[in-house]
Amino acid sequence: MRIGILGYGTVGSGLIDIIDKNKDKKNIEIVSILVRDKSKYEGINHYDKLTTDIEEIFSKNLDVLVEVMGGLYPSLEYIKRALKSKINVVTANKDLLAESGDELLKLAKDNNVSIKFEASVGGGIPVLKPLIESLEGNNINSICAILNGTTNFILSKMYNEGLSYNEALKQAQELGFAEANPDSDVLGYDAARKLSILSTLAYDNRVYWKDLYLEGITNIDEKDIEYAKKLNCKIKLVGQSKYEDNKVSGFVRPVLVGSNSILANIENEFNAVVLNGDSVGEVSFVGKGAGKLATGSAVYGDVMDILNNRISSIDSFTKEKVDVNKVLDENCS
Ligand code: NDP
Ligand code: HSE
Repeated sequence: MRIGILGYGTVGSGLIDIIDKNKDKKNIEIVSILVRDKSKYEGINHYDKLTTDIEEIFSKNLDVLVEVMGGLYPSLEYIKRALKSKINVVTANKDLLAESGDELLKLAKDNNVSIKFEASVGGGIPVLKPLIESLEGNNINSICAILNGTTNFILSKMYNEGLSYNEALKQAQELGFAEANPDSDVLGYDAARKLSILSTLAYDNRVYWKDLYLEGITNIDEKDIEYAKKLNCKIKLVGQSKYEDNKVSGFVRPVLVGSNSILANIENEFNAVVLNGDSVGEVSFVGKGAGKLATGSAVYGDVMDILNNRISSIDSFTKEKVDVNKVLDENCS
């Protein structure tokens, strides 16, 4: 399988390490890698494959294009071009899925190719595939989740080690967890985008991220942490949605969770997704929600699904947008 990769940052380098580690077992050939500035990458593996010219990528007769460079533009344009050229796509880009998932899924279907995006929600946690495939016999009633590694890392460091908000954010950036613009993380946009992707798939209705109630963690300070401790609680940036009477309600906001709850024990860059299905009951998925190898693992899994022709059809994104009730007072602790 010939793959082209857009981006050699945190996720791209994780994916490439995993491909290299498995090279004796799996037949994946990296043919070209797009970056903006080659001089930053001197001495790394596959340096000879780096290009700054997108035309070079598209000239290589690819089976799969992996998009791990982020942002809406020019990623959207490159992915659309790949799908129209009948090249399968794997992406970790939740911004793109949350905004243009309907257009991209339709384009993939019309061109008889796949677009896969496991890494876009929960980093390394396999959650989209189990939701679409293994839980197919369920109507999903609710989702309660921690969906952003950066904010969970910041809140954990403030609570457990007494770090300031700014010190903890800096560490999250150095570790490669934060988005290029960390406002996406700390203002809750990233978690809302992920919750909208999960909710769209879970409720088989297009749930748009801007329709969710949204509040980030920028107002949380040392005093809030002290109060949480006195109450034997933790503060977590929680995303929750529910499907009731054909209506979706949902929010992303800081929530006080009791210290014995599942979510209270999710620390640092870890994420958790707790789903409730009418047949299976409650199911939890926990693991690293951000970081090089964890996210690389999810992207690699998608590439392997394409290689092995393990593709499920996803129509939820192409459904009409549903009205979302923004205000939801209950928490899920
Ligand atoms: P990085 O900033 O670490 O890496 C981005 C890479 O893409 C760099 O190699 C950069 O090249 C290249 N790039 C960016 N824009 C362009 C462009 N216009 N043209 C050519 N090359 C470009 O990002 P991440 O690896 O952290 O994130 C990538 C994607 O994965 C994002 O969508 C992110 O939301 C998602 N994601 C990230 C996770 C994480 O833990 N970091 C987890 C899950 C998803 P150069 O260095 O030359 O600028
Ligand atoms: N910035 C994101 C996070 C990366 O911190 O969760 C993973 O999507």
